Amino acid sequence: MSFGIHCSLVVNSVWENIEFSLDKQIDFKIVMSNCIIDSGIAAAMAGFSAPTSLGFGQVKSPVMYRVDYRDGAWQQGRALPYQNIEIDPAAKVLHYAQEVFEGLKAYKIDNPRANFFRPLDNHDRLNFSARRMCMPEIPADLFMEGISVVTALSEPLIPTQAGQSLYLRPFMIGLTGALGMGPSSEYAFIVIASPSEAYHAGEMKVLIEREGCRAAVGGTGAAKTGGNYAAATESAQRTQAMGYHQSLWLDPRNMKDIEELSGMNVFALIDGELHTPRLTPSFLKGITRDSVIQLARHKGYEVVERTMPIEELLADIKSGSCVEAFACGTAAIVSPISDIAEADGTAYELSQSDVVAAELRRGLLDIQERRTEDPFGWTSEVEDQFYQLALAG
Ligand code: COI
Repeated sequence: MSFGIHCSLVVNSVWENIEFSLDKQIDFKIVMSNCIIDSGIAAAMAGFSAPTSLGFGQVKSPVMYRVDYRDGAWQQGRALPYQNIEIDPAAKVLHYAQEVFEGLKAYKIDNPRANFFRPLDNHDRLNFSARRMCMPEIPADLFMEGISVVTALSEPLIPTQAGQSLYLRPFMIGLTGALGMGPSSEYAFIVIASPSEAYHAGEMKVLIEREGCRAAVGGTGAAKTGGNYAAATESAQRTQAMGYHQSLWLDPRNMKDIEELSGMNVFALIDGELHTPRLTPSFLKGITRDSVIQLARHKGYEVVERTMPIEELLADIKSGSCVEAFACGTAAIVSPISDIAEADGTAYELSQSDVVAAELRRGLLDIQERRTEDPFGWTSEVEDQFYQLALAG
């Protein structure tokens, strides 16, 4: 009974807080990390050999970070060899999907030290997702400790070709083993990592999803939680079986307005302006989306965030007003879209491919990979203390 009351209060406050802030300046420093480095890490690193082809998310760094929450407090963080996690079969995450995650990258292209891109924005969004899923917030110093220690320890494995990176996957799970509905009292926050290439190379063909919804009105669409991705999987399979790469999701209330692709946001070049769907509570506030908006404006483009009816976009493609479209996300970077199609095979081909997208991808990667000045203050090096910890371990 008390759960119902508690949860509805949380939900209200979450939606009032949909505009969680992006664009934290990177002046955050951890005073002094006391992360424990497990003695098995050296052996785990020594036993690692990287395959010639990385792909995305296939190769796992042999180290991970874990910090547990119990008795109302976060405990001490530990860097560990990558390993299975022991979990009560009744754990809330397994039955009620009490889970949130993030995706961000560490880059090491022609630089002696790895760097992050807007990590505190991922931290903010993780906590936004955690509030939505009735989970405790993770303090910024533990979040930064987790991604920093995994990056410092994984340093020899970070690929160094432009477009490659160490993809970091911080996540939090509810561990309490009890089958009644309600939030856990125990959690683990874990960071794993994967030396990776971009999620998708080349042009993407997109299929409009007219039947299913990835997220409901009043649901969890704006949170980065596994259930949203589970809900998109059946559509993704159908889409791929028909020869397309991504489903294009429409708003769950009217099935009219464009929201996002399953793991990426979407932009269209219409009459020389960049248009992207205005944020709603049913899709993810992409950090790459925000970066593309800021970077494009910086380069002189007019960027319009608005409600984008799918029928209007299709008419704009047909009439030639819309010549180019692209997707963007942490994993995807900026990927051109070649055509947008209906399930009956009607395809709306974009007449221009990878022109503005390529300009923005280059501009973004130049900042992320530190080839150019970063006028936004988005990048930051991994703090020296984590390299010292890694060496001492
Ligand atoms: C990311 O871009 O980091 C994501 O979480 C998308 C995921 C589907 C790979």
